[in-house]
Amino acid sequence: MSLEAILFDRSDLQNVSVKVLDQLLLPYTTAYVPINTIDDGYRVIKLMQVRGAPAIAIVGSLSVLSEAQLLGNENFTQTQTFYDTSDFDRIRSTLKQRLAFLLDSRPTAVNLSNALSEIEKILKNSDTLESFRRQLYEFVCQLIDDDLSNNVKMGNNGAEFLLKQLKSESFDQDFAVLTICNTGSLATSGYGTALGVIRSLWKDASAQLSQEQNSDKKRKVDRGGAKMTHVFPLETRPYNQGSRLTAYELVHDNIPATLIPDSSITYRIATSDIPIKAAFVGADRIVRNGDTANKIGTYQLALICKQFGIKFFVTAPKTTIDSVTETGAGIVVEERKADEFKHVAGTVIDGATGEPQLSGDGKPMAGKVGVAPVGVSVWNPAFDVTPHELIDGIVTEVGVYTKDAEGNFDLTDLFE
Ligand code: MRU
Repeated sequence: MSLEAILFDRSDLQNVSVKVLDQLLLPYTTAYVPINTIDDGYRVIKLMQVRGAPAIAIVGSLSVLSEAQLLGNENFTQTQTFYDTSDFDRIRSTLKQRLAFLLDSRPTAVNLSNALSEIEKILKNSDTLESFRRQLYEFVCQLIDDDLSNNVKMGNNGAEFLLKQLKSESFDQDFAVLTICNTGSLATSGYGTALGVIRSLWKDASAQLSQEQNSDKKRKVDRGGAKMTHVFPLETRPYNQGSRLTAYELVHDNIPATLIPDSSITYRIATSDIPIKAAFVGADRIVRNGDTANKIGTYQLALICKQFGIKFFVTAPKTTIDSVTETGAGIVVEERKADEFKHVAGTVIDGATGEPQLSGDGKPMAGKVGVAPVGVSVWNPAFDVTPHELIDGIVTEVGVYTKDAEGNFDLTDLFE
C-alpha cells in the first residue's frame, strides 16, 4: 500500500519528473498520473485525483515547474501553442495567465493561492527562463521539505498539548479521538496535519503499551498518563475521504480505528465505552479571527463536540493561513458537481468474499452507481466554515493557539 501522494524525482534539475497518486482509485488500486504541464496539474486538482490543501499547493507548484521545463525544450510543440518563446518577457506574461488559470482549479484551500503568489514573485524577479526554473525548483523543494517537517512538529505539538491538558484534569485512562476527511500523508507531503497529531498520539500510546507488556504484569508500569488507543474517522460523505483514504492510512499504520457514518457522530459519542476526548480536523483556510473552512461536515462536528464538552482542535500549517480575510464570511466555498453527490464511485466487490472483482486485464473493476433520481436538484458544497467560537485550539508547527478571556484568537504571529 502506498502512502505517497506525490512522486517527485528532483535528482536532476534539468530533468525533474512528477507523478501523482490517483486517489479516486483508492483504496483498491494504486496508479500514478504523470504531470508534465499546468493543464495536467489543473486536471488532477479539479478532478480530485489529488486533494487536501497542502498537497494541492505542492502539485500545483510542481506542474508549473514541469511546464517551465517543457518550455526550455525547443522541440516541444504543445507549449508553443500557448507561448511565444522568442523572449522571456513574453514567456513571463503567458506564465502569469497560466498561474491565474491554475488558481481557478479549486478556490477554497488557500495554500495553492499562497504558493502561486510566491511563484508570481519569483517570476517577476527572474530575467531568464533558466533563472526562473532554478528559483522555482528551489522554492518547490523547500515547500515539500518544510511541509513534511512542519507536519511532524504539528503532530507532536498537538499530541503534547492534549496530553498535558488531560493530565491537568487528572484524566489518566485510555481515550479515543474523532477526525473528519483525510488530513494524512495523502493530503500532504507526509505524516499529515490532524492525522499527524493522531499519529503522534498513537506513537505515545503504543510506547506506553509496549512498556506495560514488557514489564512484570504485577508491577505494571504506570506513567500515569492518558493514552489514545482508538480513532473514530468519519466516513465524510459525499466524497468519502474518511473511508477511502483516512481508514486506508489508519489500517496501513495499524492504528486501532472504527470507521463511522457521518450521521452517527452524536450516537457514537453518547454510547461509546471508551471516552472520546477530542476531535482533530484539518483546514483549507484559516482567516484572521480563526474562522476555519474545512471539509463539509466539520461545522456540525464542532457543534456536536461543544454539546458533549469534547475539545475541538483545528490543525494546520502556516501555509493554510489567509492573512487578508478578516472573518469566515469572506471565504468562497467551492460547490462541486451534482453528480459527485448523486453518484457513488467505487470498486465492484464480490458479495461473497468482500474482495474487489477483477476485470479481464486483472485490474479491480471501478464504476459508479446512482443513489438519487436523475431529475432531482442537489446542493453539494465541498466545505463549510466553522466559527472560531467553536474551536478550542489551532495547532500549528510553531505551537498551539488558544483563545483569550474574551474568546478571541490572536494569530498575528502567523501572518507574514
Ligand atoms: O476536498 P478535499 O478532499 O481537498 O478536502 C480536504 C480537507 O478538507 C482537508 O481536511 C484539508 O484540506 C486539510 S488537509 C491536510
